[in-house]
Amino acid sequence: MKKFHVLTIFPEFFECFKNTGIVSRAVEKGIVQINTVNLRDYTTDKHRTVDDVVYGGGPGMLLKPEPIFRAYEDISQNGKPYVLITEPWGRKFDQQFAWELAEKDRDILIICGRYEGVDERVKSIVDEEVSIGDFVLSGGEPAALVIMDAVIRLIPGVVGDEDSIRADSFSDGLLGYPNYTRPAVYKGMEVPEVLRSGNHKLINLWRRWKQVENTLKKRPELLEKADLTQNDKKMLEMIKEGKTFEDFLKKYKL
Ligand code: ADE
Repeated sequence: MKKFHVLTIFPEFFECFKNTGIVSRAVEKGIVQINTVNLRDYTTDKHRTVDDVVYGGGPGMLLKPEPIFRAYEDISQNGKPYVLITEPWGRKFDQQFAWELAEKDRDILIICGRYEGVDERVKSIVDEEVSIGDFVLSGGEPAALVIMDAVIRLIPGVVGDEDSIRADSFSDGLLGYPNYTRPAVYKGMEVPEVLRSGNHKLINLWRRWKQVENTLKKRPELLEKADLTQNDKKMLEMIKEGKTFEDFLKKYKL
């Protein structure tokens, strides 16, 4: 069972997420648990205050340390979680990061930061600061959703067909290949012949060709880090020369 704790001042933000699609099925199956923790439940004053003014002056309010530490200590009674805090300048979240989190054998605690910020002392309990991209959200809740969604689908048993995870974009450093469903011809646009051939060796080759081609066209910088096989490199060379998949088959007598 993989357990996520989300520390937030907006627990209701996660209700729809927990009750929809793959995530809700994973929760029902007992593979995943999502424990949304209301930061206000760890305040001690009548007004349930979670923020305060900035020492030294400055605009906005900061999340106070005490409720966060109290919540953390409470959660840690069942073992120390791996602690993330959402920040726009954190480590950029990507598929590699998602795999690392999916494979951790500890609970994951995500502290949702606020646009104005969090008292710096909270960082003493944080393992990693995480960002979902170079833009500023008003709070960390959407980032926490993104992170949990990407991680949950990697946990064994969550997505029925494990092949579909392996075929995901980024899972081997390349983008995915295009897919089609019926009808075979729609508004004059035809499903590629090869996909209807029933020849699975050929289909796999075509899909790989498309992965290399898509990546070159849309995200060429990914090719530098991708683990390309000899075959991938041959494809890449021919795609760069403007050759077609048919040319590739002919050249290598496939
Ligand atoms: N908080 C504000 N902006 C963020 C971002 N881009 N990623 C994660 N947390 C954030």
